[in-house]
Amino acid sequence: MIGKICGTGSCVPGHILDNDDLSQMVDTSDAWIRERTGVARRHIIEEETTVSMAAEAARRALEDGNVRAEEVDLLIVCTFTSEVLLPCAACEVQKELGAVNAACFDLNAACTGFLFAYNTAQAYIAAGLCRTVLLIGSESLSNMVDWKDRGTCILFGDGAGAAVLRAEPGELPSPVMHSDGESGGALTLKSRHRKGWTEGLAHPEEFIRMDGREVFRFAVKKVPEVIHELLDGTETELSEIDHFVLHQANRRIVESVAKRLDVDIERFPMNLEEYGNTSSASIPILLDEMNRDGRLKPGQTIILAGFGAGLSWGAAFLRW
Ligand code: COA
Repeated sequence: MIGKICGTGSCVPGHILDNDDLSQMVDTSDAWIRERTGVARRHIIEEETTVSMAAEAARRALEDGNVRAEEVDLLIVCTFTSEVLLPCAACEVQKELGAVNAACFDLNAACTGFLFAYNTAQAYIAAGLCRTVLLIGSESLSNMVDWKDRGTCILFGDGAGAAVLRAEPGELPSPVMHSDGESGGALTLKSRHRKGWTEGLAHPEEFIRMDGREVFRFAVKKVPEVIHELLDGTETELSEIDHFVLHQANRRIVESVAKRLDVDIERFPMNLEEYGNTSSASIPILLDEMNRDGRLKPGQTIILAGFGAGLSWGAAFLRW
């Protein structure tokens, strides 16, 4: 059995922070940010929370898939930015939706979260442990970003995306997943709960810290490698893939991956200009846009690829 996506949804905050707004906050410019990242604006929470966006994205996905909340038997929220730790965000979403028959847990694999959760769902379905899975990526990165650090605050945004998977007969080639804790120092967010609060100032480590060049080098090397690894041992060629849906971190990363694979950039959909990097939400938000605007057609073959803190990275097949 495989998990087939039958519905998608997304929810992004209404409040928009564009590059000109950011240039009032740190020493940067619209031209610099667009050229180096491809990001023009990002949506930032005001009243919304990680859970409220997750629940709304999930409602839309269930509606799109014509699935009742009671039918969901596994509910996973990918996040590292939830305002609530106990109960987990997934249980909070369950409560909002009335998904009373679902087992619920959160999955933190940073920006690789949705990809790892998708593979987790496929494994549960293949093992016969569940039939209907609700996957959600939801992040309030604006709470974790140092708005004085121009090396990071320009990149990130808030939002949620969701997908419902239904079990059906079929087979998918094995996904590929990797982690490298030894290199984890390149992208960190230290706990906010262990250090004293000094003079009203947050500890400098309590925000996302990143060696941008290191993360860039990692992504442009590992993503093409992992896509080749995914295809190795299958009958499928790169030329047969309709869409490469990559984690939306940076336009230059996506372009470099396309170039290294020697695949036309047109087959790499992007929406990071509008949302920035929404971490685990970026892949499901993009899938939802593509689903709703008709870019996804039955029978198409898609490769999902994620990468991020951990460091972690991976790729998987999706048949639409
Ligand atoms: N505006 C203007 N100038 C900036 C700036 C900003 N927002 N951020 C950095 N700079 C400056 C630097 O201070 C540096 O100046 P210097 O040459 O005088 O020292 C110069 O621009 C180049 O800095 P550098 O860090 O080498 O830039 P870069 O081309 O590597 O771009 C990133 C920086 C962060 C955009 C890029 O490294 C990147 O996208 N990395 C991947 C990050 C990512 O995707 N993380 C999430 C993965 S899930």
